[in-house]
Amino acid sequence: MKIVFITLLLSQLLHAQEPRSLNSLTVYLESHDLAGVGNTKKCFASYLPQLEQVGANWSTAYSGCQRQADTVRDTVLSKLGGEQNLMREAALRIDSYIDSCLRITNVLDYFNCFAKLSKQQLATMYAISFNASENALSLTQQLNGIDVNRYLCTNRTEESYVLGTARIFDALDKCLQLAANSAKTTD
Ligand SMILES: *[C@@H]1O[C@H](CO)[C@@H](O)[C@H](O)[C@H]1NC(C)=O
Ligand SMILES: *[C@@H]1O[C@H](CO)[C@@H](O)[C@H](O)[C@H]1NC(C)=O
Ligand SMILES: *[C@@H]1O[C@H](CO)[C@@H](O)[C@H](O)[C@H]1NC(C)=O
Repeated sequence: MKIVFITLLLSQLLHAQEPRSLNSLTVYLESHDLAGVGNTKKCFASYLPQLEQVGANWSTAYSGCQRQADTVRDTVLSKLGGEQNLMREAALRIDSYIDSCLRITNVLDYFNCFAKLSKQQLATMYAISFNASENALSLTQQLNGIDVNRYLCTNRTEESYVLGTARIFDALDKCLQLAANSAKTTD
């Protein structure tokens, strides 16, 4: 019963915090004299490093997922930088034409200036609007895709962490039970 309790406690300690907190776990075990009892010490000595390895793997894989997502995001955004500049230049050309109309004080010239907002400029305005909606839609989809991939990646990482620690806790539990049984026979 005590062994199961210790293993449960270990498991909760590990899962309550990040997998990297094995140092504090070892400190905890030592301060409560749980790691030093006869053969149980051997069990911890052999399985704690394995837990540490699984935790280190989790950490590496997790930051790999983040890094990959960041890289793809940077690429996607930098590809749209060119589009954004084209759009900006086109908008500024129309803007400066409209500004020149607004500066005219003569009423007739003022109206004529706006009347001459050419088909070309209206087509450009339409293109800006069309391109902007397309780009926004495509960007949203790509960013969502990046988030989904990041989720799948970290989820896989987490799954192998959970399965890995479960396997080691099983083995640790068996080891502790054997240690307890052999302690009983020695008594
Ligand atoms: C940690 O990752 C390495 C490389 O991916 C792998 O070979 C090893 O089996 C992993 N260790 C554990 C305990 O999961
Ligand atoms: C709109 O997109 C097309 C195709 O990518 C491009 O050729 C055009 O220059 C863009 N126009 C503006 C105003 O952004
Ligand atoms: C995330 O991982 C869990 C197991 O850890 C699995 O059951 C679930 O299907 C995974 N989700 C996705 C979307 O892959």
